[in-house]
Amino acid sequence: MDTIIVRVAIEEDSKYSQEIVDEMASSAKARGTGIAKRTPEYVSTKMKEGKGIIAVTTEGQWVGFCYIESWGHEKFVSNSGLIVNPDFRGRGVAKAIKFRSFALTRKKFPNAKIFGLTTGLQVMKINNELGYLPVPFSELTDDEQFWKGCASCVNFPILTAKNKKNCLCTGMLYDPEWEKERGPKDWAALSEKAKFAEKNVIVEF
Ligand SMILES: CC(C)(COP(=O)(O)OP(=O)(O)OC[C@H]1O[C@@H](n2cnc3c(N)ncnc32)[C@H](O)[C@@H]1OP(=O)(O)O)[C@@H](O)C(=O)NCCC(=O)NCCS
Repeated sequence: MDTIIVRVAIEEDSKYSQEIVDEMASSAKARGTGIAKRTPEYVSTKMKEGKGIIAVTTEGQWVGFCYIESWGHEKFVSNSGLIVNPDFRGRGVAKAIKFRSFALTRKKFPNAKIFGLTTGLQVMKINNELGYLPVPFSELTDDEQFWKGCASCVNFPILTAKNKKNCLCTGMLYDPEWEKERGPKDWAALSEKAKFAEKNVIVEF
């Protein structure tokens, strides 16, 4: 079983950008669901800015990716574009990437509310484990730039018809205020529960 490293992406990872956007597009097509389209340049920029999380094998094969983006003067941060290479699915890579991206978000934007839009059960499960709650879109950012990202999704006419109140995606939100009562995340315990070591997935926190 290949060893998979999950870490913050760096500029040199731009060599994977084309493969990442191609997989995002073909996976969305295969699922018949909508997706905000990204270009390789956009993905590379996220990597350069230290806002991407990448998974690669120790042999240098691309395994997975997602990125974070801030909105509304850094009041909100979205975790978007989660994609796992089909050859490596079902090994907990999406969970490892989401965990690392959550930790990155908390460090980079400690006061921001974290959110995502998804139609996927796996992502809902992972978000739930991280403490996100499903919310109506009114609780998410009203930053027009964020919602413009939905324009390339096949379901955009529905979002527009609903006046951005809801759509086919579920909005999920995590408010850092909740940590005042619950305390910060214990990544070692969460990683153990997720059995990353057994799956040969190493998350560089
Ligand atoms: C969705 C996706 C990212 C999941 O990647 P993955 O690495 O296979 O996911 P994981 O192995 O980390 O699984 C995460 C959780 O989902 C569960 N899961 C995996 N496959 C599942 C399935 N087919 N149905 C239901 N749950 C499933 C896992 O059991 C795990 O939960 P658990 O820890 O409680 O057991 C991957 O399938 C993908 O890239 N799909 C196309 C793009 C996409 O849908 N992106 C999400 C956009 S929001």
